[in-house]
Amino acid sequence: MRRWTWKALLLCGALGCSAEPAMAVVVDAGVVDPGPDSLPCDVQSVVAGRCASCHTTPAKAYAPMALLARSDFQRASMVDPASSMGQRSLVRLKDAASPMPPASEPPMPEADRALLTGWLEAGMPAGTCGSLPFGPAPTTCASGSIWSDASGTGASMAPGIACRSCHLDQAPYAAYFFMGTVFPTLHEADGCDPRLQEPSKVKVEILDMEDRVRLTLVPNSAGNFMSTTLQPSFPLPYRARVVGPDGASRMMSRPQTNGDCNTCHTEQGAQNAPGRIQLP
Ligand code: HEC
Ligand code: HEC
Ligand code: HEC
Repeated sequence: MRRWTWKALLLCGALGCSAEPAMAVVVDAGVVDPGPDSLPCDVQSVVAGRCASCHTTPAKAYAPMALLARSDFQRASMVDPASSMGQRSLVRLKDAASPMPPASEPPMPEADRALLTGWLEAGMPAGTCGSLPFGPAPTTCASGSIWSDASGTGASMAPGIACRSCHLDQAPYAAYFFMGTVFPTLHEADGCDPRLQEPSKVKVEILDMEDRVRLTLVPNSAGNFMSTTLQPSFPLPYRARVVGPDGASRMMSRPQTNGDCNTCHTEQGAQNAPGRIQLP
């Protein structure tokens, strides 16, 4: 058997990749002019937490545009060119039939909704916190701990790396059809140990196209989950949902046929996935 080489895939060492500070121009000693694109700090943090997972650059999860800077909200809507994205955001925040954030996401706290709505209704005044970073989101590792051989083999190995693709080649007897990793946040490094707090209370549900839950997989403390059969036990495609300890969930609404979750749920997200499979 070939020696497995997941470590070679770890490009981002322990805590090597960290956040770039948000753009701002120092005009004079101590005076910072954040520019017209700047969002108020509280608005920025709501947008970061509730909108920017999809409305980023490049946009993910089939979102049509970014919402990172004030100018993004001032731009004309594609759907209704007479309205700005900000005005359309206001409509969609209140649209029960077609809400933003979409119904697939955990419910938005009322305080966040009121804050964003208030800013949009006030005509989106500039703030002092700059825009959210463009381009790839900063890589993180919430636990601060990178998995190593010493942390355990088998079910807790290689969190975040595409399991089944490697197993098909190196451990075909364990190339289970559905395999993946749940992380606490969206952009965690390959190999970062998720250290889930209450893994036994987290569920990964695999649904068929009639919305029936066909499999319920529970992650271990390394965030990893897997089915027990090498082939799916029901006709594909499938959809998936991750349910947190408090019952809130995140749903993958689009059908998929590949059960190797981490092939798309990479640190930055591949094939339109927003990033990691993230706890709700
Ligand atoms: C899970 C991904 C996701 C999140 C999170 C999300 N959106 Fe969206 N958004 C989409 C997708 C996909 C579309 C395109 C389909 C549609 O319009 O429903 C969209 C469309 C929109 C549009 C319509 C654009 C137009 O031209 O009129 C607005 C406005 C919008 N989103 C605002 C927001 C705001 C504000 C938030 C946060 C409070 C948010 N979205 C959170 C995925 C997301
Ligand atoms: C780069 C290759 C590679 C990756 C990626 C990988 N594995 Fe493995 N895995 C192996 C190899 C080789 C073995 C057999 C030898 C061993 O246990 O170290 C194995 C064994 C296992 C076993 C034990 C099987 C048994 O019963 O003996 C489990 C469970 C497992 N892996 C789960 C996972 C999960 C979950 C992931 C993804 C988060 C994953 N692996 C990612 C190569 C890999
Ligand atoms: C071929 C790529 C691909 C594979 C494989 C894949 N996903 Fe996804 N996933 C996506 C895309 C694209 C989205 C965003 C669109 C959507 O929600 O359908 C997504 C979204 C999600 C979301 C919602 C994220 C959020 O916050 O809105 C969850 C949960 C999820 N996937 C779980 C899984 C699980 C569990 C597996 C493995 C059993 C899996 N995915 C396999 C591409 C993939």
